[in-house]
Amino acid sequence: MKETSTRLRPRQDTSSPYLNTAAKAKGKLWFGSATDTTTAETSDVSYMTIFNNSNIFGQTTPANTMKWEFTEPTQNNFTLSAGNETIALAKASGKLVRCHNLVWSSELPSWVTGGNWTNATLLAAMENHITTLIQGYGSSCYSWDVVNEALNSDGSFTSNVFLTNIGEAYVPLAYKYATAAVTATGADIKLFYNDYSIEALSTKNTAAVNLVKTIKSYGANIDGVGFESHFSTSYYPTTTQQEQAMASVAAEGVNIHVTELDVACSSVPCSTADLATQATAYYDTISACMGTTACTGMTVWDFDDKYSWIQPSSNGGEGNPDLYYSNYTRHPAYTAVYEAIEGQSCSVC
Ligand code: XIL
Repeated sequence: MKETSTRLRPRQDTSSPYLNTAAKAKGKLWFGSATDTTTAETSDVSYMTIFNNSNIFGQTTPANTMKWEFTEPTQNNFTLSAGNETIALAKASGKLVRCHNLVWSSELPSWVTGGNWTNATLLAAMENHITTLIQGYGSSCYSWDVVNEALNSDGSFTSNVFLTNIGEAYVPLAYKYATAAVTATGADIKLFYNDYSIEALSTKNTAAVNLVKTIKSYGANIDGVGFESHFSTSYYPTTTQQEQAMASVAAEGVNIHVTELDVACSSVPCSTADLATQATAYYDTISACMGTTACTGMTVWDFDDKYSWIQPSSNGGEGNPDLYYSNYTRHPAYTAVYEAIEGQSCSVC
């Protein structure tokens, strides 16, 4: 009997040190994690026990539930309920929500991708989507990623239905519509551009900076740029490189959020060497944000390997990128994140 009850006891690690508490004590808005109510996560007691611990996580981002295919599956038929579930979870443990995202080339319903559009009709559909979501979720959103991943590594615009039918102006126009919608809510909802491979100085980082300038030139508002920070043990920028990339964005007078941090091991289970490299990549990223006043919040793209979007079977064997193993114990990277927040040297790198 005794043994049985021991085995049944959840073994999730919610002990100190606490990442959100530490980040806030150092003046940041949060340390947070994405979550996904479209998976089994939210009925997983061990997962939820960690997620709901506001000392560990003070913010969440819906990994899927606010994307276009979930929120407007057929034209002008809005279903905000899945996103509202994420908001309810967040509110129950006092978390801020980064709402994600309004305009992206992926996870679009077929009426958008396969529509017979003109410039004017697609602009109207985009405006309707942006306006309805911003007003529908209202002040429950601390911020919105208005446009997501619009750029290629050479700085050109990613090909998608919006670029084809509207042209490059779809990006600043999306911010114009979002700005008007935010004004109508009367709430202070921050508008972000979110992308990957902009975390070191590069052609793409420059293109993102130029996009901020273009958005402003349309009289639209933009408050910040999200650095996704999807790294691996074979590629991650150093602290200095990330600080330089953040500085180039901050020079435009906007903030930075680290929005989707994870670091995949080259194979699973992670080797001892990979765990140390993974810890270094987390440490360097969090150190860059801590060293940059304009970097105001840090979010991991979920925290438990069990539910990571990077599963080895679909990522060439790479995986286990999160702060917790599938059994809810912690990677060494958890300690590294705490030490980076505290400005201590890394004991596990
Ligand atoms: C991912 C989700 O985590 C997956 O569940 C989904 O199948 C695909 O999208 N960049 C983004 C996120 O901005 O929205 C993506 O999320 C990961 C890459």
